[in-house]
Amino acid sequence: MLQTMRSFSLAISEDNSIRAMRRFLIAKEQMKAYLLHAGKVLDTMAISATKGIATPRPPDPISPTLADVAWLKSQLALNSIQEPPTSPAAWHSLRKGINPRTRAQQLEDLRRFKGISHYEGDDADNHTALPCPGELLVEEHHSNYGEPWAGGRDVFAFLATAAGLAPSDQVLEIGCGTLRVGLHFIRYLEEGRFHCLERDELSLMAALRYELPSQGLLHKRPLILRGEDMEFDRFGTNILYDLIYASAVFLHMPDELVWTGVQRLSERLKPHKGRIFVSHNIKFCSRLGGEECTKRLTRLGLEYVGKRTHDSFLFNHYEIWFEFRKTKA
Ligand SMILES: C[S@@+](CC[C@H](N)C(=O)[O-])C[C@H]1O[C@@H](n2cnc3c(N)ncnc32)[C@H](O)[C@@H]1O
Repeated sequence: MLQTMRSFSLAISEDNSIRAMRRFLIAKEQMKAYLLHAGKVLDTMAISATKGIATPRPPDPISPTLADVAWLKSQLALNSIQEPPTSPAAWHSLRKGINPRTRAQQLEDLRRFKGISHYEGDDADNHTALPCPGELLVEEHHSNYGEPWAGGRDVFAFLATAAGLAPSDQVLEIGCGTLRVGLHFIRYLEEGRFHCLERDELSLMAALRYELPSQGLLHKRPLILRGEDMEFDRFGTNILYDLIYASAVFLHMPDELVWTGVQRLSERLKPHKGRIFVSHNIKFCSRLGGEECTKRLTRLGLEYVGKRTHDSFLFNHYEIWFEFRKTKA
């Protein structure tokens, strides 16, 4: 607004033309709109204050809309960002930064020089609250499992929507790895609502020492426990989960262990509303034969709801999920 007024006075001093008059009229209209908006904001604040209402911030949306995508495309156009190059050579020719280092080179720099500016001598170790290994700082673990890191957001969006998840709901992930998916749940859920059982030490190190602090999520206090025995009592014996999921995990486990887990999970799933989602395949079930599998599930009070898929937002890929619910309290 100030800029518009300033350009108006500049134009006046330059010449006394119609252009200046037009600018004056535009500035007047903008000022009117601005005052109207400010008035409305003040009115809302006054109404809230007299009623003693604290207006809660609406939750962040789970999935992007078509309007979001259109906006993003407009911003790419606005900044003249070309279509990404298709060959590695063309891609790397675009790297014109002052320090275009690969991940491996960054890691070497961190080891040899501890980064660009750093404390020396007696001061060397006094300035880091939680020293983090270079391998984590250069995010090597983002490719631990072969799947693109960005797919974690797609899995979250699909599961949270499918389960009709609210921030106050309780979620358990089996095998959360480096929190590729879990991070998005932790951000969305209220404090302490995300639980995970994971067996791999290196993944847990990445999750706890790097992902949670670097994403500013320590205050969400997720309960992440190391273990491989499907022992869920360690999270508390009175908890009922709204959503339990295993993303690319059950297919790597012996059928017997999966069934031990499924039996224990059936006692932890909220009847009717709660959902268990298992990705990729349910061979632990199909290997028994359809009839026997249904019998086992029924004995546990579980029902197979069906098979679902979801597309990735950023890369050409879809994921298959198998959905279960508990029919009896
Ligand atoms: C392919 S990774 C998927 C990680 C994560 N769910 C994701 O989508 O990024 C499989 C994970 O399951 C974990 N896992 C395998 N068997 C497990 C078990 N018995 N108990 C807990 N975690 C297990 C592995 O350590 C690994 O982190």
